[in-house]
Amino acid sequence: AARVVVLVSGAGSNLQALLDAARDGAYPAEVVAVGADRPGAAGLDRARAADVPTFVVPLAEHPDRAAWDAALTDAVAAHRPDWVVLAGFMRLVGPAFLARFEGRVLNTHPALSPSFPGMHGPADALAHGVKVSGATLFVVDAGVDTGVIVAQTAVAVEPDDDVAALHERIKVAERRMLVDAVARIAADGLVVSGRHARFGTPGPVH
Ligand code: GAR
Repeated sequence: AARVVVLVSGAGSNLQALLDAARDGAYPAEVVAVGADRPGAAGLDRARAADVPTFVVPLAEHPDRAAWDAALTDAVAAHRPDWVVLAGFMRLVGPAFLARFEGRVLNTHPALSPSFPGMHGPADALAHGVKVSGATLFVVDAGVDTGVIVAQTAVAVEPDDDVAALHERIKVAERRMLVDAVARIAADGLVVSGRHARFGTPGPVH
């Protein structure tokens, strides 16, 4: 199975969906470690409950962002991941991290990119009055939610939604998208060309 390291900051329901999927031996990916930027992240408890190793690399325990970036990179690399999944990881990974795992870092975002990047996807979608929102899985680059899109899933925005209700509806769809896409990537690979990503292996060059 493909080795996946998951990074979390919060509740970890997306992580839980991957852990649950991977309990089926036929699932082509395995969560080999879970990391967080804060010791209180509930996702760490989910990992421990599943007997998955955990690590914590808090920004505040490092002299600057570059030192934190290097420490996080080393902590992840120690688990020899094929793929790194950011699942509610609320920090931007740094240049060392991106250089080490280039093209192999995936993030899930609670909006339909390129709309509403940043920390408040569901709130921004509500404020804008859109009728459809959703979640986007993308290959992380140096920008904020700007990477090449791998998968998207749409949900309706209901008239009486508040931020919590919309975000919860998005997360239900998001978890399914993540589990399905990680399976496709683990089993078939991911080919990125320009702004386009598809599951599979590179074709022959004519
Ligand atoms: C998810 O909706 C994820 O897309 C979002 O946080 C939630 C985490 O939920 N991520 C971001 O907003 C990243 N900027 P979870 O902890 O229950 O998986």
